[in-house]
Amino acid sequence: MPDLKVLFSREQIAARVAELGAQITRDFQGEPVVLVGVLKGAAIFLSDLSRQIELDSTFDFIAVSSYGNQKQNSGEVKLQKDVDQSMEGRNVILVEDILDTGLTMTYLKKMIMAHKPKSFRIAALLDKKCRRQQPIQADYAGFEIPDEFVVGYGMDYAERYRNLPDICIVP
Ligand code: IMP
Ligand code: MG
Repeated sequence: MPDLKVLFSREQIAARVAELGAQITRDFQGEPVVLVGVLKGAAIFLSDLSRQIELDSTFDFIAVSSYGNQKQNSGEVKLQKDVDQSMEGRNVILVEDILDTGLTMTYLKKMIMAHKPKSFRIAALLDKKCRRQQPIQADYAGFEIPDEFVVGYGMDYAERYRNLPDICIVP
């Protein structure tokens, strides 16, 4: 294990996720929502967030891969797994671990909007605003963070550390 430094503790994360869930519950006023998680990083966030949302909710998942760091700048994102259900006429909340350059979310938003949902919102646990290349924002953002690489609570470095309960900075 490298020397990981805790950025947000499990208690801080739980408190913030509860606030986001309460906000979503208020905003949708009893309407059903579909939570669309972006695999694999958002899996833990989605599972905790969904239990803080007091609405009729269903889950769906999509998976994407982006081409290496240089090609990421070209905005190339490849869909590895599409949603299972139609998003037409539904209140879609796209659930993501980190909003970084915004290339992934821009691509996914366009894809989901093609389904003609009733509404579309983005929930991102972390927001690296300073890294943004596309004009896209989270409607529900957990924490804004500086340009640091983080792991834990679903997020990985080369597929490791997803199971850490806290969000940590990789030195
Ligand atoms: P982007 O917004 O298209 O640049 O890509 C965001 C994706 O990159 C996120 O969904 C994460 O999977 C990944 N990512 C960005 N920053 C980090 C990080 O600090 N740790 C782990 N994954 C990250
Ligand atoms: Mg991701």
